[in-house]
Order: sequence, then C-alpha cells, then structure tokens
Amino acid sequence: MMMHLWRRMSILWILGLSLSSSWLFLRPPQLTRVLRARISCWAAEAEISAADMERAKKEIAELEELAAKEDANAQFRLGQVLRKGRFVEQDLIRAFQLIFDAAQQDHVRAEYVLGTMLIRAEGCEEDVDTGVNFVLMAAEDGYAPAQFAMSKLYLTGVHPGGEDALSGLYWLKRAASEHVPAQLKLGEMLLKGEGVKRNETLAARYFMLAAKEGSVQAQEVVGQLLRTGTGLARDEALAWTWLSKAADQGNEEACLTLAAMCRKGEGSPRDPAAALRWFEKAAKSGNPEAANELGVMYLCGEGTMSDEAASAYWFQRATELEEQRLADATYGI
Ligand SMILES: *[C@@H]1O[C@H](CO)[C@@H](O)[C@H](O)[C@H]1NC(C)=O
Repeated sequence: MMMHLWRRMSILWILGLSLSSSWLFLRPPQLTRVLRARISCWAAEAEISAADMERAKKEIAELEELAAKEDANAQFRLGQVLRKGRFVEQDLIRAFQLIFDAAQQDHVRAEYVLGTMLIRAEGCEEDVDTGVNFVLMAAEDGYAPAQFAMSKLYLTGVHPGGEDALSGLYWLKRAASEHVPAQLKLGEMLLKGEGVKRNETLAARYFMLAAKEGSVQAQEVVGQLLRTGTGLARDEALAWTWLSKAADQGNEEACLTLAAMCRKGEGSPRDPAAALRWFEKAAKSGNPEAANELGVMYLCGEGTMSDEAASAYWFQRATELEEQRLADATYGI
C-alpha cells in the first residue's frame, strides 16, 4: 500500500516537474519516451477492466468525430480525456489545443480549465495573466468551481494583482451558494473569524448546506455544532443523527464523538458496549486515540469483559498508529 502510494506520488512529481519546465513544450524525444513508459505503467496500475477500456475507446472515437466538426462540448470532453490520460496516452499539448478551441466557442467549463492550464503551464507556456482572465470569464458566467478558484487566487496572492482579501471573500461567497468546497472553506473562516467577522450562525448555515449535499466532513461539523449548541440550537438527538451519518462513512472524529456520547449517555441512553464498537471502528481505520481508549476499556472491563490481552493489544496498536501518524506528518504522505 505504502509502496504503491509512493510510486504514484513520484510519477506525479516527475510529471509536475517536467510540465512546469518549458522544455516539455518542445517535446525532446527522449524525455517524452520516458514519460510515456511511466504513464502506461501507471494506467496498468490503475487496473482498468477490459470492458471499461473497450467502452472508453468507443466513446473516444465518437468524441474525435464530433470534435472534428467543431462541437465545443466534444472538444472539451476529449481535451479532458487527453489531459487526464486515464484511457489514452496523456497528451497535454493536444488537450490544451482542444480545450482552447472549446473556450473560443464560449464553453464555460473549457474557459475555466484553460485558465488553470495556463496558470500551471500544463501543455503550454505559463501565462498567469491570461489564465486568470479565462478563469474570471467562467466565474462571471456563474460557474461555481471557477468562482472558488478566483477566491483562492486572491486569498493566496497567486493573482497577478497580489493578495486581496476583499475580492477573495467576494468570490468565495458567490461560490458558496452552491459549491461544497467553498461552503466548507467559508464555514470554517466564519467559525474561526479568520479573514472575516466571526459569525457562528452563518457558519452553521454553510456547513448545513454542504452536509445536505452529502459532504461527510460537513456532516461531522454539523453534528458537533448541534451537540455544543454553536450557531444552532443545541439538540443532542439531531447531533446524533448527523454524527452517525458521518461515522458510518468512516469519519474518525464522528466515531470518537459518538463513542464519548454513548459512554456518557448523551443523546441516547448510556451504552458502553456501543461506545466500544464506535472506538473499534475508528481504531480500525487507523485512529490512535480510539485504540488507546479501547486499551482502557478492555483493561477496566467497560462495555466488555475485562481482557488483559486485548487491552495490551490495543495499547500497542495505539503506539504504532501514533508513530505512523508522526511519520505521515513528517513526510507528508
Ligand atoms: C451573522 O449573520 C447573520 C446573517 O447574515 C446576521 O443576521 C447576523 O446579524 C450576524 N451576526 C453577527 C454577530 O454578526
């Protein structure tokens, strides 16, 4: 697993490194060959089934035909296929050309993707000014991911005009009316009073929007807000509902909170055996705090028969998981 991840990252790194240098634009044959070998190896690792590959080939052939007839949507989709290189050999230069043609025909998503390609020098020379203008076009046409991208450009200062919190916030608010990542970001800023006046009520409203769209992270936050009565009327039963939605999808924080609630009898009758099950779920997905709590519960016989061997196992597991977390934080894997 680790090895697999590492290999993937190194491929991305090599791609990233080559793409940001202008010599890929000139396509020196040797480099291209090396990259191609890497990419097809990557595709094999992605384990695409023969049936999927067959279907993709057929769709790509259809897209080629439509794109040749100047169909903007086909140009955009074919460009994306070539850009991602999942079912075909990646070809950023042709991808750029196709997406450029679609953008010329006012295809909004193409405008946005073309803008990001120009900013990142993907299949073209870097041109931040023009890139930002294309992203802006898509943002003004109401495309929420482009609005979110505009906010990031301003908030991080990648925008040629430099950092601009006010414009960043303007675009973030527009994006947050429908775009989940923007809702999460704005909710977090409002909750912390970071770059914006602190407003828990408004923060809760954005997290609720995202939670209803199915964001697991937002579901956990909404659960915590309801549990503590932050920005929303305190409601333990409703907190329980949202937390279990998140926990069922593997959110570790939600599992820990539910376990704590079961232990105390908060939002439902006290139930140490259920607490044990929630801790187990979190520990199995790699949470050291949960493993540690399991060690304690097995030692004291809380929610289970006292079991020294199980207790020792979980304490040991907690140490391993903690070490792994430290290593991950250090090496950024
Ligand atoms: C928070 O936002 C809401 C909605 O915009 C507003 O009605 C309220 O006055 C704000 N609260 C504070 C403390 O600024």
